[in-house]
Amino acid sequence: MIINKALFLTSNNRIDKLPKDNIPEYAFIGRSNVGKSSLINMLTRRRGLAKTSSTPGKTISINHFIVNDEWYLVDLPGYGYAKRSKKQREEWQMMLAKYISRRRNLVCTFVLIDSRIEPQDSDLGFMEWLGENQVPFAIVFTKTDKLKKTEIEKNIEAYKKRLLEDWEDLPALFITSSETGLGRDEVLNFIEEQNRELEEYKRTHGL
Ligand code: GTP
Ligand code: MG
Repeated sequence: MIINKALFLTSNNRIDKLPKDNIPEYAFIGRSNVGKSSLINMLTRRRGLAKTSSTPGKTISINHFIVNDEWYLVDLPGYGYAKRSKKQREEWQMMLAKYISRRRNLVCTFVLIDSRIEPQDSDLGFMEWLGENQVPFAIVFTKTDKLKKTEIEKNIEAYKKRLLEDWEDLPALFITSSETGLGRDEVLNFIEEQNRELEEYKRTHGL
């Protein structure tokens, strides 16, 4: 997919204020610092479009970006950021849960996983919750530039094995680096394909 246009649209911490839900939406979620905002910049090839930081807890609201005037990319706050108060974490958790479970145009949620670390309960638990709420998701392994090729393969194989303890099938998996652009085409092609399927569905159902 060629990206001609990518613009920041809105930043919200209330789900009743989100932009109109009339175009396909793709959200990025994962633990703080995993690389969600960086991935948005890498995919759109716009440095600084989404704000990044080496300190966890940078993104603190639901940020919508509009791509090619056709679909939304959404940057979300990370989960499990220990430095916030328990109350604040619970409020965010609630807002994220509401957003993900109620947003009608959310086509797919990309769960970002740091490729360097072993499977974490917080991520596995989050995916389980997505499954229970019938929210389609894909997995994006991040920061692979920090590993040797053999290490990437080993870690991803281990992750797949762990997932298959809980799931019958594996979701779509992407191996990425926001430093090198690895995986960019694969993620964008996946989104393009989903957009196309949605259009086809709407057309055949007269929507
Ligand atoms: P929060 O908004 O705090 O939840 O974090 P985030 O998931 O949006 O992470 P962000 O994109 O801000 O990146 C966190 C740090 O990781 C930054 O210092 C990035 O430069 C770095 N980073 C992100 N992706 C990559 C990557 O693919 N490779 C490398 N080497 N560093 C990365
Ligand atoms: Mg962020």
